[in-house]
Parts: sequence; C-alpha cells; structure tokens
Amino acid sequence: DRHWNLKKTVVLVGMMGAGKTAVGKALAARLGVPFLDSDAEIEKAANMTIAEIFQRDGEAFFRNRETEVIDRLLDSHRGILSTGGGAFMAERNRALISQKGVSVWLNADMDILWSRVKCKNTRPLLRTSNPYQTLKDLYDARVPTYALADLSVQARAEYSIDAMAEQVQEAL
Ligand code: S3P
Repeated sequence: DRHWNLKKTVVLVGMMGAGKTAVGKALAARLGVPFLDSDAEIEKAANMTIAEIFQRDGEAFFRNRETEVIDRLLDSHRGILSTGGGAFMAERNRALISQKGVSVWLNADMDILWSRVKCKNTRPLLRTSNPYQTLKDLYDARVPTYALADLSVQARAEYSIDAMAEQVQEAL
C-alpha cells in the first residue's frame, strides 16, 4: 500500500451536504494518511454537539472555537482535514488554510446539497421556517468565496463517495 507523504494538509471546504466528511475519510483511506474533521474536534473539546454549542453559546462563540481548532490542527496534523461549511468564510481561516494547507472546494449544486441535508436535523443554521431557501441563500452568498480555494472538484449525483475521493486525489 502506498502512503502519500503529503507536503501540506489537504483542507476540504464547501457547503453542508457537499460530502466533506465522507469524502475526506475516503480520501484519507486512499492515501493512507490521517483524517480529522474540525466540527468533530470542536464537539470533542466542548463535549457538546454543534447544535448544542449554537444553542447555548451562539454562532459567534462557535466561530471562535472553529478558528482555534483549525489553527491547532493545521500545526499538529498532516493529512486530510474536513471543515464545517462556514469555516472558509472567515478571512482569518482562509489565511491560516492557505499558509499551512491546500484547500479543495467540493463543489456540489443545490439539488445535491438539498437532497443530502433535507432529511437531517443536525444543522442549526437550517432550523428555519424554510430550510430550502436558507440553504439556497447561504449557497448563493458563499459560492464566490469557496471559489477562492486552491482547487475545486465538481460533485455529481452519480458519483460514489470513493469516486469523489478519487477525483480529489487526481486534482492534488
Ligand atoms: C455550518 C456547517 C456545519 C457546522 C455548523 C455551521 C455552516 O458543518 O460547522 O453547523 O455554517 O455551513 P457541515 O458543513 O459539516 O455540515
């Protein structure tokens, strides 16, 4: 088995439902490198779910934890790092990621995103009266910023998780 010696951590960015966590795990397995997820690290450190952190401490608090975790993981981890959908929106996070990692945008269209997030109730930002519209508004607002990533890979409904991971691997 070939183990990639990554020069930089590969940071997956993109919307909720783009598959950052699933594809990140599959990519890490393909490359034989460690996988980490910023949302999971935040939950572990706080011993609360993301939804509980939003509810108890608010989004701004969550965003500060997110920046701390990304900064720490980029220093301590060489592998694949999946981030929450909002992480790449903060200029400070983009600066950290571009200094210490290589960013890959998992670019999925609204149909794919909605089909993946609609059944779940885990995303605090989508707990609104019209979650489709909320997702669409976030999508429209964020796409220009995701496009700043070093690389982008187009998601397709017919691609399996491993096929997406292969696409990312080829882009690296
Ligand atoms: C968020 C996405 C979530 C999580 C939090 C906020 C966002 O991560 O970080 O609910 O702002 O888009 P996923 O993209 O993994 O769902």
